[in-house]
Amino acid sequence: MCGIVGIIGNSQVAPLIVDALKRLEYRGYDSAGVATLSEGQLDRLRAEGKLINLEKRLAEKPLKGTIGIGHTRWATHGIPNEPNAHPHFSDGVAIVHNGIIENFGELRDELKADGYSFASQTDTEVVAHLVARELKAGKAPREAAHAALKRLQGAFALAIMFQGDEDLIVAARSGPPLAVGHGDGEMFLGSDAIALAPFTNAITYLEDGDWVVIRRSGIEIFDMEGQAVERQKQQSVGTTLLVDKGNHRHFMEKEIHEQPEVTGQTLAHYLDFANGGYKELDSAIDFKNIDRLYISACGTAYLAGQIAKYWFERYARLPVDSDVASEFRYREMPLDKRSAALFVSQSGETADTLASLRYCKGAGLAIGSIVNVRESTIARESDGIYPTLAGPEIGVASTKAFTCQLSIFASLVVRAALERGTVSAEEGAQLVRSLSEVPRLIKEALKLEGEIAELGRELSEVNHVLYLGRDTSYPLAMEGALKLKEISYIHAEGYAAGELKHGPIALIDKQMPVVVIAPFDKIYEKTASNMQEVAARGGRIILITDEKGAAHTSLDGIKTIIMPNMSEFVTPIVYALPIQMLAYHTAVAMGTDVDQPRNLAKSVTVE
Ligand code: AGP
Repeated sequence: MCGIVGIIGNSQVAPLIVDALKRLEYRGYDSAGVATLSEGQLDRLRAEGKLINLEKRLAEKPLKGTIGIGHTRWATHGIPNEPNAHPHFSDGVAIVHNGIIENFGELRDELKADGYSFASQTDTEVVAHLVARELKAGKAPREAAHAALKRLQGAFALAIMFQGDEDLIVAARSGPPLAVGHGDGEMFLGSDAIALAPFTNAITYLEDGDWVVIRRSGIEIFDMEGQAVERQKQQSVGTTLLVDKGNHRHFMEKEIHEQPEVTGQTLAHYLDFANGGYKELDSAIDFKNIDRLYISACGTAYLAGQIAKYWFERYARLPVDSDVASEFRYREMPLDKRSAALFVSQSGETADTLASLRYCKGAGLAIGSIVNVRESTIARESDGIYPTLAGPEIGVASTKAFTCQLSIFASLVVRAALERGTVSAEEGAQLVRSLSEVPRLIKEALKLEGEIAELGRELSEVNHVLYLGRDTSYPLAMEGALKLKEISYIHAEGYAAGELKHGPIALIDKQMPVVVIAPFDKIYEKTASNMQEVAARGGRIILITDEKGAAHTSLDGIKTIIMPNMSEFVTPIVYALPIQMLAYHTAVAMGTDVDQPRNLAKSVTVE
């Protein structure tokens, strides 16, 4: 969600804040703003739309000052426009905020009754007024901030600057992450260490409920009761490089093409290809001694978990509950004592996934997480992590993180099956051999890009698309639909092919393309019958299959994407490629903003 930056420096900070915000643009990009303090005066510039608009304004009218705060927004309360853009001001107080103040309605009414008027529709402005009211009542800035913080309910990361003190930022964390960077006579604040990487790699992560007083000389951290707390200073490994697109038009295209390499690295990290087994790496989860596994995640990461459920149950005979994280924590299910919980997140910051993790931790379960960002909150709060070696994923639509998540799941399935004795050593070695083929198979699948681009141009003309699949191709069908809708804005749904006749078949007509994911496996014929039902009603079929699958269809006039032959175990990893490319080329043909599609953000830190 929103990105926050704060700097108390020794040179002009506005350009530095904008540079740090660029590294946080993945969190939100519907408006941005910077405020600085110079010669006793607060000043700010804000702009609707991407950061580039703010940069243009700053070029026309530079902001002076060696202390400042900045923000890139993903709207929660109030439309994305300039009045709703942060920083928000109230009587010498400037504030930036990430998250949601849940009791803002009640606070706003109270402040209005007290004579405060509101210039925006945001929940953030109430915080600015609350702090200003405490100052007016005679409190010093840090006490005023503390008093205001104690009134807030919800999830927030905040940074507050005070007119009259050019050596003070107060920041607080209750939910969304916040990191303080230690410089030499300078201090930095950011939503993550990556934003601060160009300035420092000496980082203190705030914990939930912490608030911090930041001055050039150092920091003091307190809990909500006002008691001083100690937090470690650590060395971050965040890269200083802003990752670029290379020769690709979009990050998404680049990330799709990186998949042979990153899945190969990830699989090689967990599997012993030479001996046909797994590597004895530390595992947060003792697969041998559990009766059930809970997997929770959101979006694409959740769909990776759905595929893993089929694998764990089939090969390791381990029952899995795979849930959307926002549902899991509220459905009050009895948690099995002999179980473990596994969380999946590219960013490692997704609020719903983190809340589920804390729920399971509270219940005493062993916690593992599959994360792409090793310093993320989810990683730090897990008993053990299984890192995806995908490298930074910048495109909002998750591609390489997904196939790397699946690569780890597949490796853990091999480990669990061998440890639980549900496959023999030879069967385990066979699974490992088929996984070793994945990078090559992905390379083969990438060669289909030309014909998939052609199909993408056709899909760009339609309003609705249905995706069908069975077994592990069912979650993949949902992933195909998710990918298409998020970047092309075409309405798409993914269904279990067997469910077609229970409702969605009513949608089929000549205008409705149906993408069928059906490798030639033991249930291919069942899916083939569902294709017949679609064809009989005039639906346009795009079949993603292999040579045998193509040879076994008697339907005329359907478009067929022929994938290389592969073991059934690895199909969901490799068949992810055509659905990613189809979504990508449809979006390109439509001219949408592929890497930063409307209304979305890469890291979702609100519930
Ligand atoms: C995927 O294309 C999406 N942008 C989205 O569903 C994403 O997978 C989800 O928000 C979870 O994010 P995470 O992996 O960072 O937790």
